[in-house]
Amino acid sequence: MRVAPPRAGLSGGLDLPGDKSIAHRALLLGALAEGTTIVRGLPGGADVRATRAAVQRLGARVWEEEGTLHIEGRGASLGVADRVAIDCANSGTTMRLGAGLAAGGPGTVVLDGDASLRRRPMERVAEPLRAMQAVVETTAGRAPVTVRGGSLVGVDWRSPVASAQVKSAILLAGLRARGTTTVREPLPSRDHTERLLAYLGARVECAPGMVTLAGGQPLRAAAVPLPGDVSSAAFLVVAGLLVPGSTLRLRDVGLNPTRTGFLAILRRMGASVEVVDPHDAAGEPRGELHVCGATLHGTIITPEEVPAAIDELPVLAVAAALAEGETVLRGASELRVKESDRIAALEQLRPLGVSMQTTPDGFAIQGTGGRRLRGGRIDAGGDHRVAMAFAVAGLVADGGVEIRDPECVDVSFPGFFARLAQLGAEVTP
Ligand code: S3P
Repeated sequence: MRVAPPRAGLSGGLDLPGDKSIAHRALLLGALAEGTTIVRGLPGGADVRATRAAVQRLGARVWEEEGTLHIEGRGASLGVADRVAIDCANSGTTMRLGAGLAAGGPGTVVLDGDASLRRRPMERVAEPLRAMQAVVETTAGRAPVTVRGGSLVGVDWRSPVASAQVKSAILLAGLRARGTTTVREPLPSRDHTERLLAYLGARVECAPGMVTLAGGQPLRAAAVPLPGDVSSAAFLVVAGLLVPGSTLRLRDVGLNPTRTGFLAILRRMGASVEVVDPHDAAGEPRGELHVCGATLHGTIITPEEVPAAIDELPVLAVAAALAEGETVLRGASELRVKESDRIAALEQLRPLGVSMQTTPDGFAIQGTGGRRLRGGRIDAGGDHRVAMAFAVAGLVADGGVEIRDPECVDVSFPGFFARLAQLGAEVTP
């Protein structure tokens, strides 16, 4: 797939696929709830399909009706009588949150995934679940992960990493544990699990970097309208900023402050992104984003800013590549254990004419000051966000950028290339 600069600015209004992060949680918590949870706007990506199959394997009934997804929860009895295998495909959220869900219920669950997922660290969820008295085995710290659930006890866990997946796995297990569960993190990670738990009737106490919940609380099914995925929107926001003369409107985007760190960073770089009609629904803030082409300048992205911008750092690197001056990122070693080593993957900006240095936990990029990149070919290494970040680079590269493995975008954003083409980009298979 080759993405090349459009003849004029990108323009138009778009709806995005529903938020992937919240969708996973609606499925998992819906399965644990009493009654039927109805999810509107479920995204079609492969990650969410993996979680849907996982909750079905654990005994929840899931079906589609008039464009909405229905999950008939099994309440606290959710689980299997014997042993079941779950294929998490490429999805870290399915595996880590799935382990937490499995830990609280009966039966043995074996979670496995594709080659990328089998490389990712799993002891970070196994350890706290063991502390809650689940029996958890990893394969040298990685998948396959076997979880034998049962009667758990609450835990006060200090996580060494700011990870919403770790936090959420512990909370899911804590919901069916005896006593109270607390999770402490070095920096606040995304809080969709806490918000959805509260929306489904649980009492959750939150403070920055800390959350506490009492075990044994029932969840009540409810309707969950998903906002558009802000992480998917980020690629289009940067596209709109970098292509001169663009004006984009992105409708009904989730604007949870634990996810919008990239907007604050882009604004500091000189971007004008306007939020229109901000409002809350189902416990999550949302609004419409208006973006127009801008001249950006470099900035320093601090370790404190990383958790709220973690998935947007690859596309922020592309924004930095076109900015005036240098952009430095520190404190993002987590990027090395995502769907791929994203810091290593970004080094493919170099053959496109970008001067950059990488470190174990970040990068320094000397931007071109708006001058177009060189065209080239990249390998996304099967990583959806790397593929989409380089597609955005193609919009400002002479001759465009060819992505060798474009199909991986289906993990989170099926239809991404069609959307770019719809906005005026030159996209050729
Ligand atoms: C996610 C949390 C983040 C993020 C991932 C989705 C989630 O991972 O990078 O894409 O839905 O909880 P970590 O928990 O590993 O930081």
